[in-house]
Amino acid sequence: MRQATVCIDTHALQYNLNRVKQLAPNSKVVSMVKANAYGHGVSDCLAALSQSDAFGVACLEEALEIRELGFKQPITLIEGVFSEDEMQIAIDQHIEVIVHHHQQLQWLLQVKDAYIARNLKVWVKLNSGMNRLGFKIDVIKSIIHQLKNEGFTCVLAMHFANADVDHPLNEQQISQFLEVKQDCAPILASCCNSAAIYKYPELHFDYVRPGIMLYGATPFADRDVHALDLKPVMTFSAEIIALNAIQSGEAVGYGSTFVAQRPMQLAIVSIGYGDGYPRAFIRENTVSLDGQLTPVIGRVAMDMIAIDVTNLNTKIGDLVELWGKHRLVDDVAEANGTIGYELLCRLSQRPKRLKM
Ligand SMILES: Cc1ncc(COP(=O)(O)O)c(C=O)c1O
Repeated sequence: MRQATVCIDTHALQYNLNRVKQLAPNSKVVSMVKANAYGHGVSDCLAALSQSDAFGVACLEEALEIRELGFKQPITLIEGVFSEDEMQIAIDQHIEVIVHHHQQLQWLLQVKDAYIARNLKVWVKLNSGMNRLGFKIDVIKSIIHQLKNEGFTCVLAMHFANADVDHPLNEQQISQFLEVKQDCAPILASCCNSAAIYKYPELHFDYVRPGIMLYGATPFADRDVHALDLKPVMTFSAEIIALNAIQSGEAVGYGSTFVAQRPMQLAIVSIGYGDGYPRAFIRENTVSLDGQLTPVIGRVAMDMIAIDVTNLNTKIGDLVELWGKHRLVDDVAEANGTIGYELLCRLSQRPKRLKM
């Protein structure tokens, strides 16, 4: 059977969750499990994340999947509901919503008594300069005062556009957040994603919202997971299915983009973009064979890649790590001109899923 495998290390997941708790000991942890737990498979991850105080997802369907799997923790819909009828389902399933526009506010006020009766908090999103979702600073204060007067418990929420770098917008976002927090005090507050958990310990407040760090990938361009003391959760691997000796001047793969400058030994590995392995590399990419990194040769095809195994002791059936503990997904992403988040999320259905 074809051995293209996504293996989830649930111990690493627990380790990373504990790292969040070490870094933010006084905050509740909303583990972000949207997009199928960043591609890791929500059903394989939730048990290992069950010590989270809550889960964060992007839509009602993702929240209902968590309920169907039997997990009872609070859930926050970080984009809120998409229609009026979703509000009642959210209440019935004990799911908290964000409100980020006036229509959602109206939908919420229509079901006010039921929402409050179930002890659900409402998350109110500040648009402090990212300009995606949320109310601007000139309107959010009165909205929060109104919600509090109606009897709602509110969480002031904000998302950084540049928490992974030093950027002038960070200061603006922080100062707007603190201004609203003070104006609306007492109020629960949440603004830290993974990068901000590391960068701004003074802003952890009531809830932190880690995503990528739970999965053992880095939110930073200049600090890898080892520096952050995180463990990669996913190992993406495949098998060598053929060995090929080529001579100097021979080409490899579609487009014959690679031409050997010397005699080489190639291994053909059963992985390709049909599995979610990226094709459009902007610089040399490598895989790991028993911890030793070796280059991918020529173009990535739908089902296969070639790798250089000259001088390596390999045989058909050997497993190759595409990303995992030796070849970090963040480094593959960097060679591909993207971020680890994207590679993790866009795996296809084809690789076999395992967990340990
Ligand atoms: C509102 C919100 N909070 C937290 C996160 C988690 O971010 P990260 O994966 O960078 O920790 C996300 C992810 O995009 C988000 O949209």
